[in-house]
Amino acid sequence: MDKPAPIGVFDSGYGGLTVLKEIVQKLPQYDYIYLGDNARAPYGNRSFDTVYHYTLQCVKWFFEQGCSLVILACNTASAKALRTIQQNDLPKIDASKRVLGVIRPTAEIIGNFSSTGSVGVLATQGTVASDSYPMETAKFFPELTVYQEACPMWVPLIENNEHTTHGADYFVKKNLHHIFEKGENIDVLLLACTHYPLLKDKIVEYMPVGVKLLSQGEIVADSLSEYLRRHPEMEARCSKNGQRIFFTTDSTGDFDNHAALFYGDDVRSQNVDLGV
Ligand code: DGL
Repeated sequence: MDKPAPIGVFDSGYGGLTVLKEIVQKLPQYDYIYLGDNARAPYGNRSFDTVYHYTLQCVKWFFEQGCSLVILACNTASAKALRTIQQNDLPKIDASKRVLGVIRPTAEIIGNFSSTGSVGVLATQGTVASDSYPMETAKFFPELTVYQEACPMWVPLIENNEHTTHGADYFVKKNLHHIFEKGENIDVLLLACTHYPLLKDKIVEYMPVGVKLLSQGEIVADSLSEYLRRHPEMEARCSKNGQRIFFTTDSTGDFDNHAALFYGDDVRSQNVDLGV
């Protein structure tokens, strides 16, 4: 058996740091390696094949670092690559390793927050096109109606630090208007992209009063905690020295400057060359 190693946390860029932040708060004892594929972000508008290819390359990199458990803290990668990696690649690479995503744990509980039976999902183009949320949610809450809205400009605004500017108001207002036009009974709005918590203030400003806004950090942290409790064999393979190591496929200076916004703490990253 591999010796205990950090839990891998992956995103196309910075968004997964909003999830890592909550995971670290809930499970501080473990070691974590974060990888942001910033050189190729955003993934949101890319094809299934491209997202799959990039995500698999990053997952293999985590395995080379010794990780036995990798969390795709990215909805787009979870929607477009996770199933194929779990079903086709893992058995060939190492059947004892695990890759988990963020869509299923969210789908498992989202219906509990709604009284009207209508929820709204704000996500990237890729996540919406995959229909992963309506399909996964139907398994747990067959009566729930899921309205989706792709917000293709939100990640670029956030990655370029424009999310607090007036330019961002225009796109937030526009996408919220669309989703509430489609589903006027929506009483739960899910931020189904790990970048979106950075736009929370603006979203709250433009959404109807009484609607509950859900982001995924805590949901994923709770689900990981429960997973480790149910899988002691995997838990034993996760090292516990409270270490956090950050990698980016792009400039470390840019990463360190942006990352604190998402992670809420200073970050010192290292560059990884994936041949990008
Ligand atoms: N943060 C990622 C997600 O949750 C995707 C952002 C992107 O690369 O477009 O979907």
